[in-house]
Amino acid sequence: MNELRMGIVGAGIWGETHASIYNEHPFARTVAICDKDRSRAEALAAKFGVEEVYTDYREMAAKSSCDAIAIVTPDFLHADIAIACAEAKKDLLIEKPLATTRDDVYRMMDAFDKNKVRVMVDLHNRWNPTVNTAKQLIEAGDLGTPYSAYGRLNDIKWVATDMLSWSAQSSILWFLGSHCLDTLRFLMNSEVERVYSVSREGVLKDLGVDVPDMYLTTLEFKSGAIAQMESGWITPNANTCINDIKFTVLGTEGMVNIDCSSHNMIQAVTDKKVVTPDIIVRNKVDGKVKGFAYESIRSFVDRILDGKEFLVTKEDAANTSLALLAVMESAKTREPVVVKY
Ligand SMILES: NC(=O)c1ccc[n+]([C@@H]2O[C@H](COP(=O)([O-])OP(=O)(O)OC[C@H]3O[C@@H](n4cnc5c(N)ncnc54)[C@H](O)[C@@H]3O)[C@@H](O)[C@H]2O)c1
Repeated sequence: MNELRMGIVGAGIWGETHASIYNEHPFARTVAICDKDRSRAEALAAKFGVEEVYTDYREMAAKSSCDAIAIVTPDFLHADIAIACAEAKKDLLIEKPLATTRDDVYRMMDAFDKNKVRVMVDLHNRWNPTVNTAKQLIEAGDLGTPYSAYGRLNDIKWVATDMLSWSAQSSILWFLGSHCLDTLRFLMNSEVERVYSVSREGVLKDLGVDVPDMYLTTLEFKSGAIAQMESGWITPNANTCINDIKFTVLGTEGMVNIDCSSHNMIQAVTDKKVVTPDIIVRNKVDGKVKGFAYESIRSFVDRILDGKEFLVTKEDAANTSLALLAVMESAKTREPVVVKY
C-alpha cells in the first residue's frame, strides 16, 4: 500500500484534528467523512476537499473506498461503530477509551479477532516524550525495580462544562483517566490487579453537569507495585494550562519525576492573565501540527503502511477499560475491587 485512504466517523472537535493530520501526512488522505449531523460532515468534508460524505456509519463501512477508519465519536459511542467497521474489514484507529462497558469490550475484541483487522486505540501519552523517556530509563534499569508511582491527569472545569456537550454521559475517568491508567500500566510494565477508589461530586453538579468531580484511586499491580491515580475535572478555569499532567515513578534504586504542565519553558503574561502555552501536547510550527497528541495519530498511519506493531496494542486498551470499570465499581461500593479481565 503506497497511500492510506482514511475514513472518519465523528466530525466534531477531534475529528477535525484527525482529518488535518491525515491530510498533512505525505502518504495518507481523508477520503470519507461520516457524522450523524449532515451539516457537520459536509462542513468538514468541504474544509479538507473530501468527496464521500455519509450520515450512517454502516453505509460508510459498506460503500466507502477507504482502507481504514478513525472512530472519533463521544466516549460511550465507539463499540457498535467499531464492530460494523471491523465486519467491513477496515483497519481501525479508535479514540480513547476503547469502550465504557465490559460487554462492549468483549464484543469488540471478538469482532477484531474474527475479522482479522488491525486496531489501535489513541492512548497517546505513550508518545509523550517525557513518558517515553521515563519508560526508557526504567527499561535500562536506571531506577531498579518499579516500586510505586503517582499519576495525575486533571482538566479545568471548562472541559466538562463547555468544551464537551456529552461530559455528563462520560466521566473524567474515561476522558483522561484512560490516558493516566494506561500510562501507569506502561511505566510499571504490569497489569492492575486490584483497585480502591474514592470519588466526590457536587461542584460540577452545581454547574449543571451531573457527573463526579474527582476520583482518588489506589492501584495494586500484579508485579506487587502500587500507585496513586488522581483524576479530576474541577481544576479552576484560571489555571495556567488546561491539562494538569504529573507522574512520578519510584524504583528500588531511583526515581523519575514528570511535570508537563508547570514546565516554565514559556509563559505568556497579559494584564488579564498568565498562560503556560502548551508546547508538548499539541501546537503548531510552520503551519504544521506537532505534539504527542498528533504523533500518536500519525503513528497509526505509519504502522499501517509499514506493517509493524503499534506502540499500544488492542489488549492494552481493553485492559485499561476493564481496570477503569473496576475503579468505578470500587468508588460506588466503597470496597476494594479485583479487576476482572
Ligand atoms: N486523544 C485526544 O487528545 C482527544 C482529544 C479530544 C477528544 N478525544 C476523543 O475523541 C472523541 C470525540 O470527542 P470530540 O471532542 O471530538 O466530540 P464532539 O462532540 O466534538 O464530536 C463528536 C461527533 O460525533 C458525532 N456522532 C455521534 N454519534 C455518531 C454516530 N452514531 N455516527 C456518526 N457520528 C456520530 C457527533 O454528531 C459529533 O459531531 C471522544 O472519544 C474523545 O474522548 C480525544
